[in-house]
Amino acid sequence: MKCFLKRENGYQLLMFLFAAFFIPVGCVQGQLGKDNGAQYRNGMVVCAYPDAAQVGLNILKKGGNAVDAAVAVQFALAVTLPEAGNIGGGGFMVYRSAKGESNTLDFREKAPAMASQDMYLDSAGNVVPGMSLSTHKASGVPGSVDGMVEAHRKYGRLKWEELVQPAIDIAHNGFKITKRLAADLNRNEAEFKKLNEGKNYLIKDTPWQEGDLLVQEDLAKTLEQVRDKGRAGFYEGPVADELITEMQSGKGLISKTDLQNYHAVWRKALTGTYKDYKIITMPPPSSGGIALLQLLQSVQKYPLNRWGFNRDSTVQLVVEAERRVYADRSKYLGDPDFYKVPGDSLLKPAYNTSRMSTFGWDKATASASILPGKFVGYESDQTTHYSIVDREGNAVAITTTLNGSFGSKIFVKGAGFLLNNEMDDFSSKPGVPNMFGLVGGKANSIQPGKRMLSSMTPTIVEKDGKLFMVVGTPGGSTIITSVFQTILNVIEFNQGMQQAVNSKRFHHQWLPDVVYIEQDALNSADSVKLAQKGYKIVGSGPSGRVDAILKTKWGYYEGGADPRGDDTKLGW
Ligand code: GLY
Repeated sequence: MKCFLKRENGYQLLMFLFAAFFIPVGCVQGQLGKDNGAQYRNGMVVCAYPDAAQVGLNILKKGGNAVDAAVAVQFALAVTLPEAGNIGGGGFMVYRSAKGESNTLDFREKAPAMASQDMYLDSAGNVVPGMSLSTHKASGVPGSVDGMVEAHRKYGRLKWEELVQPAIDIAHNGFKITKRLAADLNRNEAEFKKLNEGKNYLIKDTPWQEGDLLVQEDLAKTLEQVRDKGRAGFYEGPVADELITEMQSGKGLISKTDLQNYHAVWRKALTGTYKDYKIITMPPPSSGGIALLQLLQSVQKYPLNRWGFNRDSTVQLVVEAERRVYADRSKYLGDPDFYKVPGDSLLKPAYNTSRMSTFGWDKATASASILPGKFVGYESDQTTHYSIVDREGNAVAITTTLNGSFGSKIFVKGAGFLLNNEMDDFSSKPGVPNMFGLVGGKANSIQPGKRMLSSMTPTIVEKDGKLFMVVGTPGGSTIITSVFQTILNVIEFNQGMQQAVNSKRFHHQWLPDVVYIEQDALNSADSVKLAQKGYKIVGSGPSGRVDAILKTKWGYYEGGADPRGDDTKLGW
């Protein structure tokens, strides 16, 4: 049914009455002046793979709440999105209840007890290439299973077994892979073989093709342990034994004690404001929340809406804000359990305003470059984000990751899952860039039991005390800037959720001193103007995969599923 509701017009009251009394609960084809797709009253799931979105929707329809659906989606993505969905990695959850209470769960991986500050350096003190990425030593102690157990213990409504079972069914029966997943598996085949001699998980004799059935019996068996024993099904017993045996086969550091000692942590949500909106986001050990709030503070007083979406002044301002905030990130952010993060100082509006006072409109500020950054490129599949809202209005934003695409690409033999290479998110050596080109120092140095700094930015936005948006994305160092731009797209440029997600993005991270732009993100005249001011503009591949939900003023949910991937939005 075509909807003729317009965002702002004189018929709002009439339209509201129409919506309230005549539109049946369920789907409304929302136009809102743009193609933002169907809208729903009872709940929505937006995530990176169609089968996993369907699992989440089924849980909501069964009476599960947003956390129940999130747990089911996490396990379903571990099966259907092997490059990023995981049980061998970690992540962050931002939660807002229908009553407005917020909370966050940190299930980020931790450095094993045997890890040490210089573990990736050779005898000359140089970083050994690839050691923090493609070896058994690259893995942090996984947090995802404990995170899901903990989220469910605190907020879940349905039985745990009901939430894990759909993933077991998909792993056991198989699912039809998309063209993109087939290509990803084929692209990684040589590395899978090199790193997993004699193991055949995700490898087959002939190239994968769209529509092939991917069956994962070992993973189904592992998930059955998790279904039946919860936390103990992963951190103890046969699965833990398989993980330790795998570690020992490759001189990895994770021990049984590391597994037993792993616990997700509830952390007070980080909150801030942008104009009339309240931002609820992830505190450290993610850098994402602090950086996002700093960015919003930095641009708040400027007339972005008048300048327009991705116009030269908008881009210049946003780039200069990003340059300053990423410089702070490299020095001040790390695991708060190990390093005193100066969050209060970084989030003083006067601080961010004064940082912005040092740029002039005539030319680009030069990033102070002590050591040159090296940006290795966008690898958007390494992480995944899902946004969920339920019938009551509870909302969950979860970003979860293996770090690199397919993590370390090392399978746990017999257990059917991939290990993360999250240790690369630490600073292996001060000033030496990681795989995302990010540099760091003491705040993010390696210490036993410490969590590595992340950029993941699961975020919930409120307006007038009510739920407004649920948002997040993968994309390594670009996560923060993609979430930032998506929020600006809605609030400043009046884009609907799908349009805000589709909109082309750009990225700057202090070092390297380059503005990365997606194809056609800027018009050529504006690119020339910025280049003349000294901005180095470089084309990039797709940046991030934002999956988000907007609550309209009519009380309907409108999703944005990123067309850069297989992302899917489903509601009811
Ligand atoms: N592994 C990417 C991140 O956590 O930022």
